[in-house]
Amino acid sequence: MIKSALIPVAGHGTRLLPATKSQPKEMLPVARKPIVQYVVEELVSNGIQQLLFITGRNKASIENHFDDDPELYRMLTETNRQELLEETNFKDLAVHFFYTRQRVQRGLGDAVLCGENFAGEEPFLLALGDSILGLHAKSNVVTRLVEVFESQQASCVVAVEEVPLQETAFYGIVQPQDGVGDHFPISNLVEKPKPQDAPSNLAIAGRYIFSPLIFDMIRRVKPDKRGEIQLTDAIQLLCEEGQRVMAVRLQPGEKRYDIGNFPSYFESFVEFALADPLYGAEFRKMLDRLLAKA
Ligand code: UTP
Repeated sequence: MIKSALIPVAGHGTRLLPATKSQPKEMLPVARKPIVQYVVEELVSNGIQQLLFITGRNKASIENHFDDDPELYRMLTETNRQELLEETNFKDLAVHFFYTRQRVQRGLGDAVLCGENFAGEEPFLLALGDSILGLHAKSNVVTRLVEVFESQQASCVVAVEEVPLQETAFYGIVQPQDGVGDHFPISNLVEKPKPQDAPSNLAIAGRYIFSPLIFDMIRRVKPDKRGEIQLTDAIQLLCEEGQRVMAVRLQPGEKRYDIGNFPSYFESFVEFALADPLYGAEFRKMLDRLLAKA
């Protein structure tokens, strides 16, 4: 059983400037909630019991968001707004929150290394803080990753999503060892390949499980030309070492919303707002009116 997760949220978010100048991209709202709240809700619903956020400068609002706010709770209780209370009160969730800082933003691999003491000798989940899986975080892929990790005695399991072949250059792409099924072994990873060089159209989708072996691999990775330690290089080393590395495919209802750039942020916001149980129908009418005028 895997009970710990790392959520790296220390990146600069330069592709979302100026929105991210003084607020973390992981706190940008998608419809009615900040991105990172969807991530936490997904992990809790998949049985994760302790979360370590890898934060950095200008990221204090994440810690504040998950902290208690007695004044707010009192006001919501007095005005009988039960639903809002449930959506803002995290202390009753079956999960413990921990925080540490990545002092210098030296890439995702380096961020993961900041969780080494927290993970200790146990396998752990890694969930990117800027990626939501499934509309309103309805995905159980984490549970499936855990099952495959345990049944296959793997060192690493990654969630993968089918992407259009012409878009492989935006993603880390896996190379299946033999065939492809709901889950399958992989023999390599290629970071951002051109479509003609891509070994598949299956992209790593922001959720991973690792044995603690990954920390040694990360330490062996040389920084890239931007000075960043890439996590995919460390997974590649696991493959080279002959370790069992597996992929689990996202199912159709588990689309990955990667809020790393503006087009994808806009699309995610609109899709979540349209699906909102309270405001969706009204928003759809408004959008129709706007589109008719445009
Ligand atoms: P990205 O590469 O998308 O994030 O990392 P970024 O560096 O913030 O984005 P740009 O390129 O500047 O626009 C995916 C996740 O990993 C975290 C980010 O916060 C994000 O949630 N990350 C990235 C770290 O925690 N530390 C890093 O050094 C880099």
